[in-house]
Amino acid sequence: MDEVSEKTWKNEEENEELRENEMVRVASGIPGLDDMIEGGFPFPSVVLVAGSAGTGKTTFSLQFLFAGAEQDEQGLFFTTLSEPTHWMLQYSSNFSFVKKEYFGNLIQYVDLGSMLNRPVDEILRYINEKIAETMPQRIVIDPVTIIGNIIKDDYRKFLFDLTNSLKSWQAVSLLTGEVRPGEMYPVEVSYAADSVILLSLKAEGNARRKYLEILKMRGTDHRTGAYPVSITREDGFVVLRTRF
Ligand SMILES: Nc1ncnc2c1ncn2[C@@H]1O[C@H](COP(=O)(O)OP(=O)(O)O)[C@@H](O)[C@H]1O
Ligand SMILES: [Mg+2]
Repeated sequence: MDEVSEKTWKNEEENEELRENEMVRVASGIPGLDDMIEGGFPFPSVVLVAGSAGTGKTTFSLQFLFAGAEQDEQGLFFTTLSEPTHWMLQYSSNFSFVKKEYFGNLIQYVDLGSMLNRPVDEILRYINEKIAETMPQRIVIDPVTIIGNIIKDDYRKFLFDLTNSLKSWQAVSLLTGEVRPGEMYPVEVSYAADSVILLSLKAEGNARRKYLEILKMRGTDHRTGAYPVSITREDGFVVLRTRF
């Protein structure tokens, strides 16, 4: 390397360090995770949480919102599944981190299901209107991949427009992605997202163990490799730092 390019390279490295130090981070609410990602999710940013059915995407997302609510942060949960609020309440109420009294005020629940046959611009406008109503610091769209099944042709453009507008709202947004059999993770969403967390299930003997792996995280020196996780009523979603 010649002297000039070495200097530029060093400067870039220093700038990178400066940017990292300046980065605001938001606690994920997932015990064990923040230590793996330099303290939390970069703020603002868009995080894809991908996994097949039953890997813990919805649990992870709810816990992220409740952790914010505990600090008086506003949270907004968009479901694409046309599930009414009482289903969500019923499903989640036995987790100890869920406080029912937060639903409807600190945590707002919005059903996008009925919007999804509308033109893409209208879906985006509706999402932005809902965000503008409460100005949340934490946003979830669960699962965003359903939108891809419905709008098809415009999906890529939709994802880029969506992630750009989410970042302009000054929030950390979690988009969950359903992983279909034979697929590693939803590639289209991963391009548009700043960070990708992959949840998985692996058969081990008669048991099925759950794992979490950070595939990418913008501006973050993150841990690599799959870490075991547990999901229980008492502790919710926890990353275990000891390997089996
Ligand atoms: N209410 C609950 N109480 C205890 N454990 C639950 C509850 N809901 C889900 N789980 C556990 O968490 C796992 C993941 O569920 P979920 O978060 O719905 O996954 P996904 O959204 O990826 O399909 C379930 O397979 C189950 O083991
Ligand atoms: Mg789910």
